[in-house]
Amino acid sequence: MIEVKNLVRTFKTGDRTIKPVNGVSFELEEGTLASIVGKSGSGKSTLLSLLGALDKPTSGDVVVNGVSLAGMPDGKLTEYRRRDIGFVFQQFNLIPNLSALDNVMLPMEFAGVRKPMRDQRARELLQQVQLDPEKHGRRINRLSGGEQQRVAIARALANEPKLILADEPTGNLDEQTGEHIIELLSSLSRDHNTTILVVTHDRQLANKTDRRFRLQQGRLTEEPARDRAGAAAGVEAGVGTAAV
Ligand SMILES: Nc1ncnc2c1ncn2[C@@H]1O[C@H](COP(=O)(O)OP(=O)(O)OP(=O)(O)O)[C@@H](O)[C@H]1O
Ligand SMILES: [Mg+2]
Repeated sequence: MIEVKNLVRTFKTGDRTIKPVNGVSFELEEGTLASIVGKSGSGKSTLLSLLGALDKPTSGDVVVNGVSLAGMPDGKLTEYRRRDIGFVFQQFNLIPNLSALDNVMLPMEFAGVRKPMRDQRARELLQQVQLDPEKHGRRINRLSGGEQQRVAIARALANEPKLILADEPTGNLDEQTGEHIIELLSSLSRDHNTTILVVTHDRQLANKTDRRFRLQQGRLTEEPARDRAGAAAGVEAGVGTAAV
């Protein structure tokens, strides 16, 4: 379970101060697939960085399975980031001249997993994200955008993180490939009980998540849930037409 408690992040540039995250609180149960939508510049990436300990809040706390990030020494934060969090970014952040397999093995190497084990697990993960086995050994810069995104997801799963943070994971992909990625994230949260938080502009994706949040003027509000098949429950017909 992840508990976010009154999180605030202030940025000062010159004599201007902005608060893209201004008192955000929510809780996510294990195995939840949740989405955050909001305008460009509304603070979505800032919030994900705070949850993943890539950045520190001005105030507030994130508590992961009972362990508080506030006041955690930097060494422990690095450990948390490497062991407990899987990141998926729009820009993939893969190493372009390494193979798909090597990219997926890298976080396991940092975590001290032995080579034969790393190799086996990386192959399994790439299979899980349905990357053609012929392409496991291929360099990243010779894979398509959709294939690279699958590798990025496999890499995020490498250390069996408690929480996957995905920033616009379908942003660069065509509709159909985006759909596959959504289904993949959905089955991962179900089958592995992984908590997944996805930032997206893609309303279709947002509609398929268990919980939907909107970040606006530093505040997070929750929108009515939909079922996983994406069908609107009768009472909320029309709600989904709000601009994402
Ligand atoms: N390191 C920083 N220093 C100063 N301002 C920052 C910093 N990082 C982000 N900001 C500002 O904070 C606000 C929120 O940025 P953020 O990247 O979180 O938005 P976003 O919702 O992810 O937008 P997008 O949908 O375009 O990715 C923006 O006004 C941005 O310019
Ligand atoms: Mg962003």
